[in-house]
Order: sequence, then structure tokens, then C-alpha cells
Amino acid sequence: MSVMAATPVMEAQDLTRKYDIRRGVFRKPATLMAVAGASFTLHAGRTLAVVGESGCGKSTLARMVTMIEPPSSGTFRLDGIDATQADRETLKRLRRQVQMVFQNPYGSLNPRKKVGTILEEPLAINTRMSGAEREAAAREMMTKVGLRPEQYGRYPHMFSGGQRQRIAIARALMLRPKIVVADEPVSALDVSIRAQVLNLMMDLQQELNLAYLFISHDLGVVRHIADEVMVMYLGRVVEHGPKEPIFAGPRHPYTRALLASTPAVDPRHRLQRAPLTGELPSPLNPPPGCPFHRRCPFATPFCAESRPELREVDGRLVACHYAEDIAAAA
Ligand SMILES: Nc1ncnc2c1ncn2[C@@H]1O[C@H](COP(=O)(O)OP(=O)(O)O)[C@@H](O)[C@H]1O
Ligand code: SF4
Ligand SMILES: [Mg+2]
Repeated sequence: MSVMAATPVMEAQDLTRKYDIRRGVFRKPATLMAVAGASFTLHAGRTLAVVGESGCGKSTLARMVTMIEPPSSGTFRLDGIDATQADRETLKRLRRQVQMVFQNPYGSLNPRKKVGTILEEPLAINTRMSGAEREAAAREMMTKVGLRPEQYGRYPHMFSGGQRQRIAIARALMLRPKIVVADEPVSALDVSIRAQVLNLMMDLQQELNLAYLFISHDLGVVRHIADEVMVMYLGRVVEHGPKEPIFAGPRHPYTRALLASTPAVDPRHRLQRAPLTGELPSPLNPPPGCPFHRRCPFATPFCAESRPELREVDGRLVACHYAEDIAAAA
């Protein structure tokens, strides 16, 4: 299972997004670093999972790579083309290659439109297919995602939450993208149907050779679907690498704490590790030094002064001064 051998379909370099936050008329706007330099590569047929607590910058990252909003700095390439420098025509073509599935299938599907219309819309806008061709394509896609073609004329409210997410996935696939960015795609679903939707996504990935950027606040959810994991904290990547070594032996204290808070993880390991404690600091006023130092059981005075850079430790990247020692700690 060599991740390196697969074709890179996206290469993101140092993606950063800042927001100016106004705080009253007279005060200077503050700068919020929603994403502070994320780099990663997506491969055809592979899944990169982005994990971290709410507010760590996952959705902002998703909006940048789906070209909903531009990065403040940094670049990302699709098939070698820099999407941050592309002209309008190129951008239009690149946008088709990256499609998004949102957390909430209620909000993302127009309740006044029939499923068939919802699925055909991307084709009507972006292709010259005839009405009959679009309908055939929509019905075919419905079958692929486990819906019945007879449901073509139904409205979103006539479906369950899981079925609605299947519709959202089908819509994302209508233009045959290379990349699907899924932002918490199962977080709003009942636990009992999450596995079904995850399995569907994995089947579709195989069939269509899709690259996934799969976002979740829950490491347990990504355990089966991920090939690689990228853990974020306050807008920064703190651990990034192949799934197996990270789950088996996280090297960043934040990843350890997240794993300890994940019920799906082996209870023998869970008992040994302290779960996450303390409040998430305000992203408007992040701590100096290591952003995790106020919650970290391994922190030293040095951590409060010096911010650790991402560096290679045991086959993955880790941003912790003491990553080597974390491995040995029980
Ligand atoms: N449009 C925006 N304007 C100002 N701040 C924003 C905006 N979008 C996100 N943020 C802030 O950026 C940070 C990251 O948010 P987000 O990407 O939504 O995180 P996540 O998806 O991991 O919960 C949060 O502090 C959030 O409040
Ligand atoms: S650098 Fe220090 S505070 Fe940050 S994660 Fe490592 S041990 Fe904890
Ligand atoms: Mg989010």
C-alpha cells in the first residue's frame, strides 16, 4: 500500500487564510489565523483525513481547495496547474474537478427541487448534454449511490438523513470530479447509518478512483476510511502522515489526547492516555510558543516560548519539541 506511488491530483503548499475581525468602531481590527500554513498532497484513489476540534480551520481549508474562497497566501496545484494563479477559463475547468459534500444534507439540498433536478443541475450548467441525456445520467448516478431510479421525482424531505447525504454525494459526482472534499459528511447522521454512508463513499472511491479530502472532528470516524491523517490545532498542522503509525503510536500530545477521547479506539490504549482537558484558546489570541502548551501534559517552560516547527519523526511529520519522548511515555 504505497501512498507515494499514486498519482498526485492536488498539491497544496503552505495554504494560509487570515480574517480581519472588527471589534468595535475605534479598535483596530484583529487578525484571526484560521489556517496557518497547511501543505499536503492528494492522490487518486486515496483519502487524506483532516482532523481536529471545532474551530481548528478544517472548513476554511475546505473552502480554499474547493475555490469557494481564495487563500491569503500559499498555493495549490491541480494536475500541476496553480489554481491560485489561474485565469477565469482555467479556473472554471479546475472547479469541476473538485466537488464538495457538506455536513448538513438538509441545508445543502434545495427543498423545492426534485432529486432529479438537483442532480441534473451541474450538468445543465456545465455541459451541453440534452435533457434526455441528463436524466439518464441522473438515474444512473442514483443507482450508483444506492437510491432507486424511481425516486427521481421525489423531493428531499421525502428521504431520510442518510438518503439525503447519498443525494448530496450523487450531486457532487455528476461532473465526474477527481477530488471530493467532504466536510463532516456523516457528523449529522445517526450513528447507526454512518457506517453505510462511509462504506458507500469507499466503494465509490474505488470505482471512480476518487481522491478524498475527508474532514472530521472525530478520529474514530476516519479510522477506516483514511489512508493518511492530518491533525490540526488552532489553524496549524501538528501531526501528518500515514494512518497506521499515527493511530498505533501518535507522536503529538494533541493527537494522543484526541485518540484517548475517541470511544472507537482500543480501550487498552485509551486507559493509558489522558483525554483532552482544558479550554480551546481563542484563535484571536493564540498562546505564544507551542499553541498546545496550556493543555499539554508534557509542556515545559521552553514550550511557552518557542513554537515547534513540523519535522519528520518516525515516518510522519510532528510539530512538538519532544516528539521522540512522547513515543516512550505510557
Ligand atoms: N468568514 C469568517 N470570518 C471570520 N472568522 C472566520 C470565518 N470563517 C471561519 N472563521 C474562524 O476561523 C476559525 C476556523 O474556523 P473553521 O474553518 O470553520 O473551523 P472548523 O471547520 O475546524 O470548525 C474559527 O476561529 C472561526 O471562527
Ligand atoms: S511542544 Fe511542548 S507544549 Fe507543545 S505539544 Fe510538544 S510538549 Fe506539548
Ligand atoms: Mg467546520
